[in-house]
Amino acid sequence: MFWSRKKKTKKANAADIGVLPRHLAIIMDGNGRWATRRGMPRTAGHKAGSENFVRTVDACDRLGIQCLTVYAFSTENWQRSDDEVQGILKIMHAYIIKYVPELMKKNIRLRILGDLSYFDEESRRALGDSEKKLENNTGLTLCIALSYGGRNEIKQALESLIREGRTEVTEEDISNRLYTAGLPDPDLVIRTGGEKRISNFLLWQSAYAEYYFSDVLWPDFDEDCLLEAASEFGRRKRRFGK
Ligand code: FPP
Repeated sequence: MFWSRKKKTKKANAADIGVLPRHLAIIMDGNGRWATRRGMPRTAGHKAGSENFVRTVDACDRLGIQCLTVYAFSTENWQRSDDEVQGILKIMHAYIIKYVPELMKKNIRLRILGDLSYFDEESRRALGDSEKKLENNTGLTLCIALSYGGRNEIKQALESLIREGRTEVTEEDISNRLYTAGLPDPDLVIRTGGEKRISNFLLWQSAYAEYYFSDVLWPDFDEDCLLEAASEFGRRKRRFGK
């Protein structure tokens, strides 16, 4: 009998990839199907998805990606059943709050992008406190899109310009009033779970982003999948319309 070698797990290594996206954005789709296929309730899929979220932040941090935005909960997701919405929010709340000390250790900055008026005051305060604690960190910027909708974000930016009495605006004026103000535009947007649409995600910011669609369901989208997406991005020629 031979000794067999332990399966190698690939650790993200920027040198293997080439050009890295400065800002990576991910539509984490497929939690529900992942659970249904296993005969489990959908919330079990969201829990597995949250565990993969933690692994992904870790991988992006090691890779040296500057900014990671994940689409955690859309404005449209509020229309799901009360049970599912409560389940998702409970899991996410636990993860985000529990994760803050680890983010601090890793020098990670946190930004929540979205229309938080849907949340009660206590939740808004807890999210704001977490952002505040991490705001002076200088490593990876982690953005969690929560109660986020791209059209609503653009509408709110325009409303703020109208309130200022502006009659002329530049593209920069609009960018500066989005939730992502001050961040680079996403270079690569990954969508897992097999659907090929952008679902109201970072509409303004993704004007020149590269898209990468994967059939893998989010809880199974591991580091090897991430590296494959990053390598493909590294091979693409970006022309920005020129
Ligand atoms: C998509 O799966 C995922 C969501 C609607 C949001 C939930 C995401 C997480 C819990 C992971 C992120 C966690 C944190 C802590 C930020 P789906 O339910 O639409 O899947 P389906 O298309 O298979 O039904």
